[in-house]
Amino acid sequence: MYVYDVLIVGSGLAARMVAHSLPKGKHIAMLTKHSKWSSNSMLAQGGVAAVFSKEDHWSSHYSDTITAGCEHNDEQAVEYLVRRGPQLINELIRSGMRFDCNEQNEVLLGQEGAHTYRRILHAGGDATGKALVSFLYQKTEHRVDMMEYETVQELIIENGRCIGVRTQDEKGHISARYAQHVVLATGGCGSLYPYTSNTDGAIGEGLSLAYRAGAELADLEFIQFHPTLLVKNGCAVGLVSEAVRGEGAVLVTGQGERIMKGVHELEDLAPRDVVSREIYRRMFQGEQIFLMIKNVNDFTNRFPTITDLCEKNGVDLDRYLIPVMPGAHFHMGGIKVNMYGETSIPRLYAVGEAACTGVHGANRLASNSLLEGLVFGELAAKKMAEKPDDPIFPGAFSASLQQVSLSMPSKRDIQELMMSCVGIVRNASSLKRMVRLLEERLDQVEENIWRYDRETIKRIHMTTAAYLISKSAFEREESRGSHFRSDFPVSLPRWEKKQLIQERMNRKVNVIGG
Ligand code: SIN
Repeated sequence: MYVYDVLIVGSGLAARMVAHSLPKGKHIAMLTKHSKWSSNSMLAQGGVAAVFSKEDHWSSHYSDTITAGCEHNDEQAVEYLVRRGPQLINELIRSGMRFDCNEQNEVLLGQEGAHTYRRILHAGGDATGKALVSFLYQKTEHRVDMMEYETVQELIIENGRCIGVRTQDEKGHISARYAQHVVLATGGCGSLYPYTSNTDGAIGEGLSLAYRAGAELADLEFIQFHPTLLVKNGCAVGLVSEAVRGEGAVLVTGQGERIMKGVHELEDLAPRDVVSREIYRRMFQGEQIFLMIKNVNDFTNRFPTITDLCEKNGVDLDRYLIPVMPGAHFHMGGIKVNMYGETSIPRLYAVGEAACTGVHGANRLASNSLLEGLVFGELAAKKMAEKPDDPIFPGAFSASLQQVSLSMPSKRDIQELMMSCVGIVRNASSLKRMVRLLEERLDQVEENIWRYDRETIKRIHMTTAAYLISKSAFEREESRGSHFRSDFPVSLPRWEKKQLIQERMNRKVNVIGG
C-alpha cells in the first residue's frame, strides 16, 4: 500500500498553489476526473485583485470586499487575504510570473465592479487564470504524480480521520489511494445550472463528498450569478468579463436605454448580484440586454479571448453591441474551513472555490477568487507541512463487487430545477418543493455509494449538492447579497453602511500601524 504525503483532488489554481507551496521532497499526487487542463481557473478572464497603486491601501480592498459581501464575511480571513495578496503576487513576479505591464514595466491595473480603486492585475489580456495555472504547472509538474480521468467516488474515513479516496477510472477500475493529507480542490457548482460560465465538470461533487463523509459545510445558498454571459440562441456560451465594463462598456436595452442608471450609485459597476437582478428583471419582461462597447479603447487587443468568443458565435463587434444574460458563476459557500484549509474532519482540507473560508461573504468581490486560491492554497500547504506523519491503518477494501445502477435525476433535470427554484430570485414555496423532491430521490441511495456505477455516482453527487444548496436557501429567511428571496426584503442597505465599514477600518489601521 503506497501512502502519499499529500493527495490533491482537482487541478485548478488552488490545487497547483498547494503543490507549489509544499516543501521539496514531499510526495504529492494530483487527481482529476478530466484532463489536467480542465478547470474553472483556466477559464478565468478577469484578473487578480491586489493593492498595487500608491493611492490605494489594503484597508480599502478590505472594506470593498466586506461591502460587496454584505458583511457576511469572516473579517480575519479578509484581512489576511488583502494584506498577504500583494506580497504573494510580488513573490510570483520575482519567480517569473508575467502580468500585463506598461512600457515602463509597471503592472497595469484594471477596474472592476465595486472596487474603489484600480487594482486588478491581468495576464495575457483576458486570460489571467490560464497564465497563472500554466505558470504554476511549470513550477510543479516534476514533483507531482498526475492522475487524469479518474473520479473520486468517496472519501475514506478511518477512526474519524481522512486517509484517502476511493476512485474509479474510465475503464471502471476501482482503486483506493491513501495519503497523510487529502485536499479537496474540486471547484464550484455552476454546472448545476443551465446558464453558466463554469466548465461542464463543475457539479459540486466536493460538497457531496465532504457531506457524505460528515464534514461541515457553510453558506451554500450564496451562488453568484455573473451579469454578462454571451447569449446565442437563448443559451449562454461564455463569459464577457466585468473588466469590459471597467473599461467603459455599459448595459443597454435594444433601444439604447442605459439600464443601470438610477438602480445603484455605481451604475454598471455595481456589485454583481445587483446588476444580475436588474438584467434578469428586464429579461423577464421580454427585453434583450446588450453590453455597449463603443467607449472601450482598443477592444480587440485588450480582450483577445472575448473577441474570439464573439467572432466564433457570430457577434459583429463593429456594431459595438454584445448580447448578454446572467449565469451561475461562483459559489461563495462550500466546505467549511479555517484559514489553513482545515475542514471539520482531521487531515481533510479544502481550498479554492470548493472551500468556504468566509472571505467572500454573501457575494464575492470581482477578481478576489484567484487571489483566494493563491493565498489560502499557500497557507493550507504550510499547515500540512507542519504536521508529523501519523500511521494509516486502512480497513478491508474490495474492488471487485458487481456494480449496480439506480435511477437518479439527470444533469438536465437538475439544471432546470435549480434555475427555476434556486436561481437569481427564490421563494419559500418553490424551495420547499425542490427540497422535498430531492430528499425523496436521495432516500433511495445506499450508504456505500461505491457499489453504484460511475454515471449513478455522478448523479448522486449532483443531486446531493443540489439538495444541500436548496435546503440552505430555504433555511435562510432573508435577502442578502446573491441570495435574493422574493418573500423577504433586502435586510442590509449595504451602500449606506460602506462608509461605516471604512471608518471602522481606518481606526483599526491607525491602531495597528498598517
Ligand atoms: C470577470 O472577468 O468578470 C470574472 C472574474 C471574476 O469572477 O472575478
